[in-house]
Amino acid sequence: MFDDIERVLITEDQLQARIVEVAGEMNAVYSDDEPPILVCILKGAFMFLADLSRNLTFRHEVDFMEISSYGSGTTSSGAVRILLDLATDIEGRHVVIVEDIVDTGHTLTYILRNFSSRNPASVRVATLLNKPSRREVDVPVNYVGFEIPNEFVLGYGLDYAQQYRNVPYIGVLKPEIYEQKL
Ligand code: IMP
Repeated sequence: MFDDIERVLITEDQLQARIVEVAGEMNAVYSDDEPPILVCILKGAFMFLADLSRNLTFRHEVDFMEISSYGSGTTSSGAVRILLDLATDIEGRHVVIVEDIVDTGHTLTYILRNFSSRNPASVRVATLLNKPSRREVDVPVNYVGFEIPNEFVLGYGLDYAQQYRNVPYIGVLKPEIYEQKL
């Protein structure tokens, strides 16, 4: 598995250090008085949610939503649908969407639109990674772990063809691995 990875983009230590900082930004905003719901967008954000949540000092709930995105390729079709919906009613609640990466912005735009029809008290977005150079639709992001260049990345929850999520750092795949499947 590790032979397929060209290089490490963000190390485990860099991930943990930055997540502590992002959690600090959120700890300054949220309080026990109105516990928010952190919505983890599956599957890619599961590790980020786990480490982020452990560094938050205010009461909060977690819930999960799965959205279809890339299938097994590395480019977005722009077509998005819900595979697993929230178990919680978010009406009147403060919500934080926890994403792995914002790329074209289509997935997040869909989720924000969908959530606004459920009348939450507020919605903010925390994403581990942001690829601004790939944006096709303008979408607000409140908390960003790392801005990264236009490269296909994997590890720390992010996949290529449903694999490599267990790689403990953010890495770049060797181009021949995905070129042979395009
Ligand atoms: P968007 O709709 O183009 O913003 O894509 C969002 C989703 O595409 C993310 O939640 C990821 O699941 C997936 N994605 C985008 N870029 C990458 C990448 O570099 N590696 C792995 N998954 C990615």
